[in-house]
Amino acid sequence: MLSETKRTLHRLGFLLMAAITAPSLRAAAVPTQLPGRDAILLGTDWYPEQWPESRWEEDLRLMEAAGIKVVRVAEFAWSRLEPQEGQYRFDWLERAITLAAKHHIASVLGTPTATPPAWLTQAHPEILRTEENGQRVTHGNRAHASVTSALYRDYCRKIAGKMAQRFGHHPEVVGWQIDNEYGYALMSYDEVTRRLFQGWVQAQYKTLDALNSAWATEYWSQTYSAWEQIPIPVGPHNPGLMLEWKRFITQAWTDYQHNQIEVLRSRVDPRQFITGNFMGFFDGFDHYRICPELSFPSWDSYVGTGHLDPDFQGMAHDLTRGFKRSNFWVIETQPGAVNWAGTNNFLNKGEVRAMAWQAIAHGSDEVGYWQWRSALNGQEEYHGTLIGVDGTPVPLYEEVSQIGREFAATQEAFRGTTVVSEVALLNDYESRWAIQFQKHAEKYDVVSVLKSYYGPLRRLAQSVDIVSPAAPLAAYKLVVAPGLNILSKETAEHLLDYVRGGGHLVLGPRSGMKDAANGLLPQRQPGFLLEALGARVEQYYALEKAVPVSGAWSSGQATVWAEQLKVIAPDVQVLMRYSKSNGWLDGQPAAVTRRYGKGRITYLGAVLDDPVMASSAEWLVKESGVQPVFGPVPEGVEVSRRVGEGKQVYVLINHTQEERRVRLNHSMRLLLQDKQGASMSLPPYGVEVLAEGK
Ligand code: GAL
Repeated sequence: MLSETKRTLHRLGFLLMAAITAPSLRAAAVPTQLPGRDAILLGTDWYPEQWPESRWEEDLRLMEAAGIKVVRVAEFAWSRLEPQEGQYRFDWLERAITLAAKHHIASVLGTPTATPPAWLTQAHPEILRTEENGQRVTHGNRAHASVTSALYRDYCRKIAGKMAQRFGHHPEVVGWQIDNEYGYALMSYDEVTRRLFQGWVQAQYKTLDALNSAWATEYWSQTYSAWEQIPIPVGPHNPGLMLEWKRFITQAWTDYQHNQIEVLRSRVDPRQFITGNFMGFFDGFDHYRICPELSFPSWDSYVGTGHLDPDFQGMAHDLTRGFKRSNFWVIETQPGAVNWAGTNNFLNKGEVRAMAWQAIAHGSDEVGYWQWRSALNGQEEYHGTLIGVDGTPVPLYEEVSQIGREFAATQEAFRGTTVVSEVALLNDYESRWAIQFQKHAEKYDVVSVLKSYYGPLRRLAQSVDIVSPAAPLAAYKLVVAPGLNILSKETAEHLLDYVRGGGHLVLGPRSGMKDAANGLLPQRQPGFLLEALGARVEQYYALEKAVPVSGAWSSGQATVWAEQLKVIAPDVQVLMRYSKSNGWLDGQPAAVTRRYGKGRITYLGAVLDDPVMASSAEWLVKESGVQPVFGPVPEGVEVSRRVGEGKQVYVLINHTQEERRVRLNHSMRLLLQDKQGASMSLPPYGVEVLAEGK
């Protein structure tokens, strides 16, 4: 199951310092840093229940020696915590937490609800999930209960409540994680869920007339005359129904989470945080809707097959930071290799360290390795660990210990800091789903399109936020919306306010096509933004081969998707045109721009190749007055900045396998080398942390 989910997921990832002006901190506090503890923490996911208690001390000694400061425990331990209904056995967990504390290691407790125990599924098989084919899942995997089962939620609330009662005031318990990866958003295709879904749809549309009209159900005789007729979509279905099902899934998991948060919050100290562990670009539910109730989001950052792709991983960090516009935790990451990818290759020596620092650089305050040690049996025997089967360190242990030493030495510089950017990319789950449902071009991948903007913009601006279209935008100089397929009047107004106020809004292909019911808007793209843009999409084309483009940015190719634009207002400037291709596109505009209010709107109607995207990014950054947060760095070196009150800290990572030299125009504190300096050499996968200010 996990491997399936992961596979789906992975199908989807000059040397002069700029004048440094302290950017103003956005209001957000840094709730992910814990009073009295290091500002950035090394962690691991530990399963004491899998080992004799006599072993724990040695595990914790080795963890402490590696600089590990936090463990996440118990998220799969239900059968140990409650071996029979109502018989709670928490003493062992308390002993584990206390022993960890003796080694200066704090604990985060997971509620164990991703793995209901066998006594529960035996007594109440009706809580088990029913798959799309009508078959109930069997016990022995995880995420096997139905998220919509009221009875299951009662059991979840009970175990979470009991744990909260016992550990909610424990000084060494710093926070909670609800469930685990929220069951990969899996749903149960049973009668209970179907009825709930029908109730949900009714609450949204109120009348069948409204629903029939919004979903255009005259098409294929889909007209509904009773709410009970509405099916759960399996496979391609009416786009309105499919979108509503995704919204229902989001609500189901939000309610499932709320059920536990409510009982935790009523019983635990306010200082204990509550988080959930997400999965980067996984789009099973709308993360902007599920995150508000959490203290902050965490995510599980894995590479799978291959090596760290700094753009992809960096983009996923920035996405997670945008869920609540706060720092976050990487509560799980890859100790070298995983077990669920096609080829579970090991990351190169040094790469794990670069990956850990990249997480911190993008706003994480913790990096936790999954897992400490492998159980001697079970589905994940082959997964990477920090300790081998014999209980002694594996080779990677030393690299992780180095990270531990470095985090400890530099953590103070990161206290109270967060990422502040002038560029935002907009990510919208509803639009992503809408495009996925009807791709039209099989190679059209929404995450790759996002990345085609992210990569070059990140290299130039050196800091990019990824936020929801509903986020406040006024602080950004440049806002890029690569795929707002569903664009309501309300969102359009919000974007126009930003432009009127002086911002530069960039729309990518497939923008402004659909309404909130995932139906076609009755005007051409970009819908409610057409008038402000002064141009429209005449026709879109899925491309079976590349089309040449050229113009103000450079020359190159449109691939996968091309829209033929038409200029309507006289003051619209054509930036790029298609060259000879299918006849329809020959000589037609591919990208246009227009001043509007105090700002500007630009529309880019094609998926463009990397060199053209690079030159378009140069134009966008220049046109919008975006400044790099640091200044030029050699190719393959990633620089990031975190900002706090009166201080700035920069992380430089050499993602290449060759040495790189970086020269600064003035001397700074090089924290990892513990010296002042105006230049440094970064070996392959080398890292340096630079600090300025107090
Ligand atoms: C995560 C999961 C962990 C573990 C890990 C292996 O998705 O939360 O429990 O299975 O993958 O990579």
